[in-house]
Amino acid sequence: MKSVLLAAFLFASLSCAPQEPMSKLTARVFDTAAAQFTALEAELPADRMPETFENGALKDGKLNGWTSGFFPGSLWLVYEYSGDVRFREMAERQTAKLDSIVAMKTHHDIGFQVNSSFGNGYRLTGKPEYLEMMRAAAAKLCTRFNPVVGCTRSWDPGKRWNYPVIIDNMMNLELLMEASRLTGDQSFAQVGKTHANTTMRNHFRDDFSTWHVVSYDEQTGEVLKKQTSQGFCDDSAWSRGQAWGLYGYTMMYRETGDPAYLAQARGIASFIIPLLPEDGVPEWDFNAPGTAHAFGMDAKGAPKKDVYIWKEGDPVMRDSSAGAIIASALVELSGYGDPDGLYIRTAEKILRTLASPEYLAPVGENGHFLLKHGVTNLHKWSGVDIPLTYGDYYFLEALIRFSKI
Ligand code: GLY
Repeated sequence: MKSVLLAAFLFASLSCAPQEPMSKLTARVFDTAAAQFTALEAELPADRMPETFENGALKDGKLNGWTSGFFPGSLWLVYEYSGDVRFREMAERQTAKLDSIVAMKTHHDIGFQVNSSFGNGYRLTGKPEYLEMMRAAAAKLCTRFNPVVGCTRSWDPGKRWNYPVIIDNMMNLELLMEASRLTGDQSFAQVGKTHANTTMRNHFRDDFSTWHVVSYDEQTGEVLKKQTSQGFCDDSAWSRGQAWGLYGYTMMYRETGDPAYLAQARGIASFIIPLLPEDGVPEWDFNAPGTAHAFGMDAKGAPKKDVYIWKEGDPVMRDSSAGAIIASALVELSGYGDPDGLYIRTAEKILRTLASPEYLAPVGENGHFLLKHGVTNLHKWSGVDIPLTYGDYYFLEALIRFSKI
């Protein structure tokens, strides 16, 4: 009897426990980041960048890999939050590793790479050489633009796609828009706006969900295929893709003030928010088997001979990186009007979940990354239930944005 009463008392006091203030939560996450990233830098080879931690080992990547800007970017964010000069020095060191990026064989993701590293560096230090890097990278990204299609090309032509453009590419426009604003070169913004407008016309379904890949005919600009690469099936809503779209159009509204982009971002939010699970962190695909809106294994474009086929009873993986991107985008979107507080409440819920022990690793664990439970490409069973450098970056960015409202 005594133990029942004690349990009831403990339950009552726990359920009445005041929530951790967001300012304290943010300080706790940034303290964790400072300790984790210091250890991570010490392990990192001089010519590599951290991607993830898998099978008990750090997985680092090439300097021209699409994720290479996120570690320097995260260090800039730790410096921004803490003002600690040690992190500015670390950020400068890691950013300098990308000094020759414009001369490397790069791709559409030079926007991600340079904006998170040099872009944050310029914002926080005003160093002219960082701005010059942004300008040169923006010019390089524009060489992938085809005016007949009206988009920058994502991947090079292959057997499956002639001129593939992925929704992720919306994120690379931020470099173009920032470089245009800072240098006055209008051609960068023109490419950015044209890409965003073409994508708005062709990538989205009536409910504001997005296909992952739209492939065009590079000679005529005609849409040839609408498919997926990393989602569950062609017509499903891969959650990180939805997140990139939400973030991308919110950013385009910030950069242009064009109400069409704001309406698009709000439409995407109206698709995403009702599909989020109770704790706010999305499953890897909103229509994956086992989710509340599962399409079923025989859906068009569902994997047939892939490595992994879901079976009844298998867990449905969450993607913490998609949660972090959505949270960061929603905090910004809330600043452009949020009458019933839905955007900011949703962002806060996601951030609280990500900062809980279920997702935020203790110092010394998780290969010195912050967030657990990210997914790269589930049905190829590549990078499943792992930390992701971009998940950490957008988590920190979201918390900084939240602390400024
Ligand atoms: N841009 C690649 C990804 O989101 O996995």
